[in-house]
Amino acid sequence: MQNLAVSKTQAPNSDLFEKNPMVLAQLNDADPCNAIIGRSDKMQAVFDLVEKVADSDSTILITGETGTGKGLVAKAIHQNSNRKNKPFISINCGAIPENLLESELFGHVRGAFTGATVSKSGKFELAHGGTIFLDEIGDMSPDLQVKVLKVLEEGEFEQVGGAKTIKVDVRVIAATHRDLPEEVKNGNFREDLFYRLYVIPIGLPALRDRRSDIPYLTSYFIQMYNYRNNKKLDGFSKEVLEIMVHYPWPGNVRELRNVVERLVVLIGSGKISVNDLPKELKAANGYQATQSLEVTDDGICLNSAVTEFEKDLILQSLEKTKWVKNKAAKLLQLNRTTLVEKIKRHRIQQYAS
Ligand SMILES: Nc1ncnc2c1ncn2[C@@H]1O[C@H](COP(=O)(O)OP(=O)(O)OP(=O)(O)O)[C@@H](O)[C@H]1O
Ligand SMILES: [Mg+2]
Repeated sequence: MQNLAVSKTQAPNSDLFEKNPMVLAQLNDADPCNAIIGRSDKMQAVFDLVEKVADSDSTILITGETGTGKGLVAKAIHQNSNRKNKPFISINCGAIPENLLESELFGHVRGAFTGATVSKSGKFELAHGGTIFLDEIGDMSPDLQVKVLKVLEEGEFEQVGGAKTIKVDVRVIAATHRDLPEEVKNGNFREDLFYRLYVIPIGLPALRDRRSDIPYLTSYFIQMYNYRNNKKLDGFSKEVLEIMVHYPWPGNVRELRNVVERLVVLIGSGKISVNDLPKELKAANGYQATQSLEVTDDGICLNSAVTEFEKDLILQSLEKTKWVKNKAAKLLQLNRTTLVEKIKRHRIQQYAS
């Protein structure tokens, strides 16, 4: 498989950009982020499914929270299909005003509406022989849903204002972050279109449900942004990686990528420590410490565990009170001088955001 190979063969910390010519080649492309990283069982199952369905012409519906990689997977399916040398045309149905979306999808003839001074082909026509990716299809109006259903059923349509029927051979991949069965229940999405799309569903798991991928993704993004920015960030301390693994990542892989990019650009060398992290991750630190502390069979160093715990609670209080030490001391039921002493001892610093 073209861009899934990396994820199956590379271990974390191996230098993807030195050793993998494919990723290097992609860096020269307009979109360098095409490799899909995922070692968790859940992502390996997605890759297996992609491999199986790529070559068929069946309609695919990709679902998942924002930032889980729906766009990447759609592209991977096309690139691994026998349509790969034909166009991959993507359209975000949620980002285009309804009155323009119809003409974007189906094209229009000259004079079809005010401003239509020339006729224009739509995305379905441009995708002929290849794949059309209908992103955020859950945001499409019911009127357009009927028209899209007709193309899916019959493979033909008319341009806006046109009388001629146009036939196309297009593989359809759709994606949405919405819960489509729920949208159908609420009358916002047509049931017939739902079942027409729901031939092969691919559900992408949220990052917090496949935490074992986080170190691999982190390592991949560090190497990618080092390479792009000519930086030499070594990586993250063990403590930081723990925080990264336990943080809930509401923005999923996109959020993780953005955090790593920011750290590579701003810090640029050495190892990242807890103080370098953005506020929201540092705030998750206390949660992580209290949740994950356990005495394993190998034992635990009580002194350092207690020190870490103290540090976490101080940091949380400081974040909560916007670093007003009087207030933070009150939250911790300490006097101010004791808190200042502890801040110094633990070398806690405010993150400059
Ligand atoms: N498994 C992955 N491996 C590497 N990068 C990934 C992965 N998943 C997502 N990304 C990165 O996260 C970014 C967001 O992915 P993508 O745009 O495909 O998500 P999405 O599910 O389509 O999100 P949205 O619903 O917001 O459109 C991508 O640009 C890519 O850099
Ligand atoms: Mg997307």
